[in-house]
Amino acid sequence: MKYSKILATGGYLPEKVLRNADLEKMVATSAEWIWERTGIEERHIAAPQETTCDLAEQAARQALQAAAVEPAAIDLIIVATTTPDYIFPSVASQLQERLGSYGCAAFDVQAVCTGFVYALSIADQFIRTGATRRALVVGAETFSRIINWQDRSTCILFGDGAGAVVVEAADEPGILSSRLHADGRHRELLWVPAGVSTGYDTTRQNAAYVAMSGSEVFKFAVNTLSRIAREILEASRMTIADIDWLVPHQANERILVATARKLHLPLERVINTVSTHANTSAASVPLALDVAVRDGRIQRGDTVLLEAFGGGFTWGAVLLNY
Ligand code: ACO
Repeated sequence: MKYSKILATGGYLPEKVLRNADLEKMVATSAEWIWERTGIEERHIAAPQETTCDLAEQAARQALQAAAVEPAAIDLIIVATTTPDYIFPSVASQLQERLGSYGCAAFDVQAVCTGFVYALSIADQFIRTGATRRALVVGAETFSRIINWQDRSTCILFGDGAGAVVVEAADEPGILSSRLHADGRHRELLWVPAGVSTGYDTTRQNAAYVAMSGSEVFKFAVNTLSRIAREILEASRMTIADIDWLVPHQANERILVATARKLHLPLERVINTVSTHANTSAASVPLALDVAVRDGRIQRGDTVLLEAFGGGFTWGAVLLNY
């Protein structure tokens, strides 16, 4: 068993939908401005009592059901999230308790929007070494909880959700390769400047809200996402023509279009859920993958490139045969 393979996917979006027209009543913006600058029309927002683990559980159960795998057969759970229910225990640990896969390894990964790509790559390493046979990998976020809903430059961009995959050891790929990167020098372009050891403050200036230099993040994201795609393809001796589907992080439709253009990849081969999901951070890639698997675009045997870029900065890609 040299490889790991995705058996099935799952996804979950909270019931409440927040449309651009609703945001017009909250901040000085317009539905057209949001749509033109981002491609976003609506986003899902978790109910007040709904936590990241609630979202993760729904997506995980759907993936397990689609894979016909019992929770007890899972021996590794990784949850990628920036918005855990508690400082500890991890969401993965809570999820394990809810699913009843007691005893298996469970931990969270924090790489913001690149979190799921990091988590899937980690699961792949565990499976390739033989340490794990069957892993549940989840990206789940309640990003709405770290948004200042009076800041029009950030509140229009994000939504809540969860996506999950079940990954199993296999004789054939599966996951072909993965590449992970980070550059901590750009911290202040995209961050939540509050935390455990630096302290929280409930006043507006230092509250735990996303702060972002939008246009700088935009430029960095486009350059990085096209570079990481080329890097992983070259390392695998493949070209963009070998890719059936690109599943990128869903931050902004203009970033998707600019990245596809730089790669000379037709937009028909890019999975785009920005308009209805907005940016769900670590949940965005597995949610988009789940949508495309369920609507039949991504078929068994297709070559798929997952890629993401996020706070840190972090970025990465996973190349796989679905
Ligand atoms: N409604 C109306 N006007 C607005 C809004 C709004 N919601 N937000 C900003 N503006 C105004 C600005 O104040 C500015 O006005 P000014 O020219 O009078 O100063 C004007 O619109 C243009 O602002 P820009 O920031 O230059 O607009 P831009 O075209 O860059 O679009 C956006 C802004 C959508 C935020 C874009 O920069 C973007 O998507 N950046 C990337 C963001 C992103 O992807 N972040 C997440 C990364 S992943 C992660 O890890 C979380």
